[in-house]
Amino acid sequence: MKRAIISDIHGNLEALEAVLQDIACQGADQIYCLGDVVGYGPNPCECVDRAMEFDAIVLGNHDQGALFDPEGFSLGAERAIFWTRQQLETCSEEPGRNRERWDFLCELPRCLTEEPFLFVHGSPRNPLSEYVFPEDAYNARKLAKIFALVPHYCCQGHTHVPGVFTEEGRFFSPDQLGGIYTLTNEKCLINVGSVGQPRDGDPRACYVLIEENLVHFRRLDYPFEETATKIFDIPELDRFLGERLRSGR
Ligand SMILES: [Fe+2]
Repeated sequence: MKRAIISDIHGNLEALEAVLQDIACQGADQIYCLGDVVGYGPNPCECVDRAMEFDAIVLGNHDQGALFDPEGFSLGAERAIFWTRQQLETCSEEPGRNRERWDFLCELPRCLTEEPFLFVHGSPRNPLSEYVFPEDAYNARKLAKIFALVPHYCCQGHTHVPGVFTEEGRFFSPDQLGGIYTLTNEKCLINVGSVGQPRDGDPRACYVLIEENLVHFRRLDYPFEETATKIFDIPELDRFLGERLRSGR
């Protein structure tokens, strides 16, 4: 079975369409999503519509922020969240459609376990909010506490920085891995990167395909200028949110 794991779409429809097209071309059987379908980007409703077709999905902190009261976000992120909430409440004229999207997001679980995998947005310890950055590979205490909660492999997002953490305290970027990581008996955390707002210096959309014991990191070009232009045209979304798409930061 070939499974696509995607995360952090952030309302970027152009990036999501490019990724979904690639997933279809690669012949994946299933699509799993690790949250943050909305937040920052200009097309939250369209992205939720696509997400409703996925095989499994967990809640992200921006999804939760749009549904409930946002806490711990920067001012720009919070403004984007309030605009996103307004979109979710009003974007469709079709009766009941806004409610369907809202209910879909409300019912998302915080984590999903399918041995040997655990799927979360942030980390096994704090599924919604904890960041595990590449430099945390050197934080033995933090890593030990997180790995204690990992059945064998954990797929995560949230940082928008793809790569693999091993239990012995190493982090490998997709480039260092040549784009492929082979699962072994050793536990690992797989950060699948971000579809709609990559932050590893590469503006291309990122996701992962897992087939047997092979983890493939995929990068896709998409027309980020189109997304950026939409963001620039929405006063509630900071200009920076469009500009960062060009640099992948
Ligand atoms: Fe995110």
